[in-house]
Amino acid sequence: MHPLTDARAPGWTWRRLPAFISACLGYKPSMRIAVLGDLHLISDADPCIELRRLRTFFSDGLPAMRRLMTWLNTLHLDAVFSVGDVIDWHSEANIILALEVLSQLHCPWHMTPGNHDLQFPTPGAPPGSYQLDPPDTFRPQAIARWRRHGVDLGRRRIGCADGDVLLVDSASSRIGRDSMDWIRKQPRRSILLTHVPLDTPAIRAHIHEREPHRNLEIYTQSGSPEVFASCIRGHIAHVVTGHLHGSGTLVQEGTTFHMIDGSFARGLQPPTVALIEASADQVAVTAIAAPL
Ligand SMILES: [Fe+2]
Ligand SMILES: [Fe+2]
Repeated sequence: MHPLTDARAPGWTWRRLPAFISACLGYKPSMRIAVLGDLHLISDADPCIELRRLRTFFSDGLPAMRRLMTWLNTLHLDAVFSVGDVIDWHSEANIILALEVLSQLHCPWHMTPGNHDLQFPTPGAPPGSYQLDPPDTFRPQAIARWRRHGVDLGRRRIGCADGDVLLVDSASSRIGRDSMDWIRKQPRRSILLTHVPLDTPAIRAHIHEREPHRNLEIYTQSGSPEVFASCIRGHIAHVVTGHLHGSGTLVQEGTTFHMIDGSFARGLQPPTVALIEASADQVAVTAIAAPL
């Protein structure tokens, strides 16, 4: 499990010296990380038996998720990141399962929350319905429980070898003004990881074209449509998101948006993982299907 104090100071550090020397000698890459999408893990120990019965398309994927961790260990990664929805609903049992699965990794791992990581089952929901409270209803309690398990869900920058990864909470389909100000102050080469795709006309069109049934108020950051113009355009070259349960890539005004899958929500298709390799002067992001 990663420590809670993973943010570090901006600017040049001696930690960058080996990467600088490697770049001068032509060796690449100096950072290699993987980004996971929506795992939606469900524990057999969770007391909500009815919910588990309704979501077997996720719970049945657990053995494959364990194999996914084993495969990731063969890639010799500096770190693994999750863009959220690690669990299918917020509960003690599901968190414990998530920690057990992710602890198989041989490298540090970090996450930013998805809506499901914060959403409690709705009490008294009609039988046969999968109903969760909105992510903001019990947000402080959910964040506190993750923290008690040693997992930080807060906004932060994590340095990996020669790169900087930004984790920003968009679980409620928006990014706050304070986070936009914060992103603007981060190094230009940073890679932004956040759960919900940004709300731009191009991204809306991209989603609608592939999945017209998606409610774009929920599946984009509709609560903060100014994010791209405010702090991404001309500043952040790569944004990786989950939430859609579908993969795709879109380039808009110098920023590449990587939408990754990661779940078994669509039958037996293997999860997509974003492999990010960065050197001193370039970043390469490759979407690869895990060989499961
Ligand atoms: Fe999800
Ligand atoms: Fe989600």
